Amino acid sequence: MAKTRTPSPIPLTNDIYGTWKSLTIAAGLELDVFTLIAGGKRTAAEVAAAAGADSGAMRRLLDVLVALKYLRRKGDLYSLEPISATFLARGGDLYFEGGAQFVKGGAMAFSQLADVVRSGRPLAPPGTETAVQFFTMLVRVIFPMSYVPAKAAVAAIGAARVRKISAILDVAAGSGAWSLPFAQASPKARVTVVDYPAVTAVTREYTARYGVGDRYDYIEGDLREVDFGRDKYELAIFGHIIHGEGAEWGQKLIRKTAAALKDKGQLLIADFIPNDERTGPMIPMLFGLNMLIRATPGADVFTMREYRTWLKEAGFRSVKTIPAPSPSPLILATK
Ligand SMILES: C[S@@+](CC[C@H](N)C(=O)[O-])C[C@H]1O[C@@H](n2cnc3c(N)ncnc32)[C@H](O)[C@@H]1O
Repeated sequence: MAKTRTPSPIPLTNDIYGTWKSLTIAAGLELDVFTLIAGGKRTAAEVAAAAGADSGAMRRLLDVLVALKYLRRKGDLYSLEPISATFLARGGDLYFEGGAQFVKGGAMAFSQLADVVRSGRPLAPPGTETAVQFFTMLVRVIFPMSYVPAKAAVAAIGAARVRKISAILDVAAGSGAWSLPFAQASPKARVTVVDYPAVTAVTREYTARYGVGDRYDYIEGDLREVDFGRDKYELAIFGHIIHGEGAEWGQKLIRKTAAALKDKGQLLIADFIPNDERTGPMIPMLFGLNMLIRATPGADVFTMREYRTWLKEAGFRSVKTIPAPSPSPLILATK
């Protein structure tokens, strides 16, 4: 019998500890260790005392956060890595608000994946009210993951071009994270937000924080029902909405938005985009499973080939991608 070489179990070992890694970061957030270290608590004993935690156990948690490259340690003194200083310490604009609950909720949901695959049905599909409540939390959590790549989109499109934009439609705007950098870069631009009324309360909070609230208008209601108008906008934005809408409603949304854009208007799409064979990259693929577990039937991730087809059918003449610090490149389609 031919001898087969036993594969290394290391890739499997790394993968099965994946949830431990994210839950360790969640524990750091829950105990607010990053904020405490940013505020001058430097030893495990100091951090533990301020967090109301056990000193020896805290040292073990902090050392793992060092191993995960979220903290540094010199002797007994801990300090923040730049990624933690920016996203994990409270007080900054890009704080990962609600991150611990988000990570724990995701782990709970994914623990039921086998049942979802067995039945082919998502976990108890949320009623609209519950979904809207979830979104008021979610849009705060994902703000930094949206705002940072949105800034990259402004840079890629070019400041001179962005300054000429006067009317923007931010569909399913959430916090407004995707349009805010455009409003900041184009002082004459007015932004029209489409989202549920409970969520636009959050949009108002963020637009005021960034000093552009007076240039935001609102169409409040269900994006499947409200009217976007015709020939009104130079730029429309879909920040993480197509995956939740699914193929049928996603294409309807693209068509309705195309009609609302002026000639040569552009549509910027941010979403999780797997390769055309649906074999990777990892995050878009996992996000597709997240849709299978938690969203209404039809919700999924879509390939670049699908986006290109839908956009061309809706009358967009050019479709290109913009690299950005996000799980997938952004799509920029021009009418
Ligand atoms: C995943 S969040 C994205 C928020 C924001 N664009 C971002 O990327 O940070 C989805 C957003 O779509 C909104 N949304 C989902 N379905 C909607 C519907 N049928 N009508 C209006 N808004 C909807 C939610 O309220 C939420 O703000």
